[in-house]
Amino acid sequence: MMKNKKVAVLVSGGGTNLQALIDSGIEISLVISSKKDAYALTRAAKNGIAAVVTEWADYRPERELFSRKILEILLEHSIDLVVYAGFMVILSDCVCKAFPNAMLNVHPSLIPAFCGEGYYGLKVHKAALERGVKLSGATVHFVNDVCDGGPIIMQKAVEVHDDDTPETLQARVMQVEREILPLAVKRLIGE
Ligand code: GAR
Repeated sequence: MMKNKKVAVLVSGGGTNLQALIDSGIEISLVISSKKDAYALTRAAKNGIAAVVTEWADYRPERELFSRKILEILLEHSIDLVVYAGFMVILSDCVCKAFPNAMLNVHPSLIPAFCGEGYYGLKVHKAALERGVKLSGATVHFVNDVCDGGPIIMQKAVEVHDDDTPETLQARVMQVEREILPLAVKRLIGE
């Protein structure tokens, strides 16, 4: 169990999951964004949370270099637990190895369905609707060297409605992401 541990949240977009973590009272030491215009950065600023931008676009396709930069920042800030909250870059092994069982991700499907490389954001929900599943949901899992392949920590299902669009399904799934991500983080930091 990790009492008084320093938590970093990695983001790339709107930051609704970051907001859920903030609202749940979890203390966040650092936000790292792979996009300089991510709304998540505004959320961090509004809540007085230190934030760093490392633009993936400046590194692309140098995943290793980008990952080393992220790792350097995490180590500089003495981070103990890393939370991917809508972080859209797959980091290389050097980061996973530095944070064994101390890095988690929220994914917008019931893993092992609709996950892995290429399944992110709305694409996940489009794929779920195309396959005709009647349940989807959200998964919080540990990050390891397999994309979306680490041990599952928590899942919650939602119903898929006949008239769902990728956007309406996404909204329903994101609601449960915002429930289970803070619960999983609290469990890991011992709150
Ligand atoms: C969330 O639905 C998250 O699960 C998903 O992107 C969205 C980010 O929203 N992540 C992935 O697809 C990663 N594979 P947010 O920026 O508002 O938290």
